[in-house]
Parts: sequence; structure tokens; C-alpha cells
Amino acid sequence: MKINQDGKIIELTAVRWNSTSKTLTLIDQRMLPERLELLELHDAPSVYHSIRKMVVRGAPAIGLTGVYGLLMELIACEKKGLEKSVIAKTLESAFQLIMSSRPTAIDLKNLMQDWLNYVKSNSYRLDEAEKYAIQLFEQNKQECYQIGVHGSKLFFENAHVLTHCNAGALATADYGTALAPMRIAKSKHIPFHVWVDETRPRLQGARLTAWELANEDIPHKIIVDSSAAFLMSEGLIDFVIVGADRITGDGWVANKIGTMSLAISASHFGIPFYVAAPWSTFAPHVSKEESQIEYRDQSEVLHCPGAGKIANPSSEALNPAFDWTPEDLVTGFITSKGILQYEELFEKSSV
Ligand code: MRU
Repeated sequence: MKINQDGKIIELTAVRWNSTSKTLTLIDQRMLPERLELLELHDAPSVYHSIRKMVVRGAPAIGLTGVYGLLMELIACEKKGLEKSVIAKTLESAFQLIMSSRPTAIDLKNLMQDWLNYVKSNSYRLDEAEKYAIQLFEQNKQECYQIGVHGSKLFFENAHVLTHCNAGALATADYGTALAPMRIAKSKHIPFHVWVDETRPRLQGARLTAWELANEDIPHKIIVDSSAAFLMSEGLIDFVIVGADRITGDGWVANKIGTMSLAISASHFGIPFYVAAPWSTFAPHVSKEESQIEYRDQSEVLHCPGAGKIANPSSEALNPAFDWTPEDLVTGFITSKGILQYEELFEKSSV
């Protein structure tokens, strides 16, 4: 990801493994766009807290952070010279701890489970474990790039695309999911414009997506979430691309709260609605019923960053962080293997 820092362009990723110091560096996304701050993590508990407090957020990014959290735990076990049975137990409790940080993004479970299975079958060998963590990171990066290549075919001259939340490089190993097609379309010199939903209450759109697009010189404007239907009715939106936190086997897409309203509005006005996701977001053996939507603290709704308390002091709030969109409202799933219909996800997935 390119970052415009004081007029200088630097390359940075939201999640970065340091092979020499065996530590993990995260961009502290709570500070953006005001400040670019990095945080160095050394163990699984700090990974748990960073995901929980949303230092790092976005389904694939938290999954990859979880994997590196387990890797750091394995490194600590090796340093102590622990036996394999103790290592197995330690990794299992680190897995459970990190899993309890946030419940909705299935990438957290899928990526950590994948890494654990590999490491177990390789007798907890450290070199193999580190190589595989890096491989999962690179795989997500490549997948996101391919999502960009396929998704960019949707773009035409002067297209107006709407996106919700942040499904950008900050939410993945790089490139993003919903934002990858925009990056590739830009590199093909196709002129287009992005409507960025501000994404109340944590403002991932206004803060993070707008920051990423500004860094790439992609023309965009921030809108309040509730204005999307109006813009659609005025013919100002050609198509919508969002990310996903899990795609279940019974046909539901969990994504940032507000996604379902967008899909219903888009369907009403005949506007194509796309979901971009890597395979780690796909959960063919999990149903909506078995899944949990995260409810976050009401203070996020009652307060506004920078403005303090904005609501009536005696009123309470409800703060679901995600919602469910039925697959029949999705025009297509932008994947690394092309733009697919829901049923085709099962054929193409190796999960
Ligand atoms: O609460 P967040 O910021 O973690 O929510 C993120 C989203 O809903 C994204 O759209 C989703 O994780 C896809 S990220 C490629």
C-alpha cells in the first residue's frame, strides 16, 4: 500500500512480520488519518488486545494477525524448550484467546486453524511454522490482487461506485478486497469516482477508506450512510462493491452494519451489488444460525470521535456491528477466480 506521508510516498502494510526480531508490527488504525503510528507486538495476549480494540480490523487482516500471534507463542515455547504436548496445549489456549477477540469475521478462525493444522502435521517445527505464516500472508496478498484484476473489469469511463466501511489494504495483507478493483482500474487509467459511506459509528469509511483513496489519488467523496438510497434514486451510483466478514453455506453475507440496507436499496433501483472476498472469508460448512453478530459498546453510538457525547444523556443505544445480506441480493462475488454466482463459490473453492 502506498502512503503519502508528508509529501513522501512510502510503502507499508497494515500487518508486517519482522523475520529478524520475530515481532509483529501493526499500523494503529485507531489513529488514522490524523497520525500514522506503528505498534510492535511480541505475544498472543497483545494480539488479542489489538484485535479487540481495533488497532487492526478487517476480516483478513485480523486473521493474519491471529496467525502471527500463534507463531510468536510457538517461538516463546521453543525458547523455553517445552515438550510437544505442552506446546500443543499452549497453542490451543492462545487460539481460544485470540478467537474470543471478535466473533464475526470467519477469517480469524479459518486462517489460524489452517496454520495450526499445518504446524501440527509438521511436528511444530519453527522454520516450517514461520514459512507457512508468511505463505498465508502472501497468499492473501495475491488473492486480493486477483480480486482487483477481475473486479476492475466492471469499471468503465466515469463510473460512480459506492463502497461501505473499509475493505482496503488496511483490512488485508495488501490491495484490499472491495478497494483492489479500484486500485487496478486506476492503474489502467480508467477515470471513475468513488462514493465513500462514512460508516457510523466507527467511521471506517470516512477515516480509512478515504485515506487510502486519497493516498492513491482516486477521486472520491464521503457521504453519510443514509444518503446512499437517495443518490441511487438520482442515478448517481452505477454499482456497489463491499467486502465481507463471512459468507455462509446457507446463503448469507455478514458485513459491516448498513450493508444489508445498501443491498436492498440497490436491488430496488436495479443497481448491481457486488461482494469482494478472498477464500478465507468463505464458510461453506457454517450457517447463519451458527454465526454470531458482534454487538459493540453503546458508547460508540452515543459519542462521536472528536465531539464527545452527542446523544441525550439519559438515553441508551444498541450497537450491532454487522448485518446479514441474503445472497440473492448479490449480483456477483468478486473472487480471485473471477466474478462468480453464489452457487459457483462451492465449485471453485478448495475449502
Ligand atoms: O469492524 P471492522 O472494521 O473490522 O469491519 C470490517 C468490515 O466489515 C469489512 O468490510 C470486512 O471485514 C471486509 S475487509 C476486506
